[in-house]
Amino acid sequence: MKKGVDWSLYSRFNTPDGSYTLLLPSKAESYHSVYGARTESLYVFIQNGLQTVNKRQVVVCETGFGTGLNALLTLEFAQLNGLILHYHACELFPIPAEMLPPPKFLNKNVFLSNAWLNIQNCSWNRTHNITSFFTLAKMEQSIAEFCPIKKADVWFHDAFSPKTQPEMWSAELFSHIGNHLAEGGCLVTYSAAGQVKRALREAGFTIERLPGPPRKKHMLRAFRRN
Ligand SMILES: C[S@@+](CC[C@H](N)C(=O)[O-])C[C@H]1O[C@@H](n2cnc3c(N)ncnc32)[C@H](O)[C@@H]1O
Repeated sequence: MKKGVDWSLYSRFNTPDGSYTLLLPSKAESYHSVYGARTESLYVFIQNGLQTVNKRQVVVCETGFGTGLNALLTLEFAQLNGLILHYHACELFPIPAEMLPPPKFLNKNVFLSNAWLNIQNCSWNRTHNITSFFTLAKMEQSIAEFCPIKKADVWFHDAFSPKTQPEMWSAELFSHIGNHLAEGGCLVTYSAAGQVKRALREAGFTIERLPGPPRKKHMLRAFRRN
């Protein structure tokens, strides 16, 4: 148990697309959409984030590594599209690997199942070659201190909701993220709440509001104004 987190109070919840998410002790918040964790991650972060980057070598940064689902889906996308991918994520409360078995949708895919296990079991705070085309650095630290060694082409901002953790959606924090974006890089996030849009604008971002994943009206993609 770390930093006062009692993981026995967290429960796994199977979502309809063969993936799972974790429910927080209150059950009022989860790590992903309970209507489809994989579906939501693919839509918000892969389709509307990673897929828009027009490069063969891509740096992805993430706020909130969590279960590693976004990392795995990024690895899968890199494999399918012949990319070299550098993935840097921060996480203040690492989930014990034994709570994170491979999700069902990986059942018939030995390569991705092994990649999942490597992503979970590799050590924190150093860089690993998970495959020949995917490096991973998962840093056990707060986003406020997180300074990735390479600037991000796309930043997955996957914090708990603004209601649960408002401090993760402040102009100050977005400004910090903006300082670590490569030229032309973007931030994508599932929340399109008013306070998020205001904070992003205050931090110097231009916002695109996009249709949301299933059961959500909108999501955001944001670019830093120069
Ligand atoms: C919505 S979940 C992320 C889900 C994750 N991206 C995935 O694919 O499973 C939010 C994550 O942010 C983490 N978190 C909370 N406060 C943080 C902070 N100050 N810095 C970095 N991560 C934080 C939480 O522990 C949690 O893992």
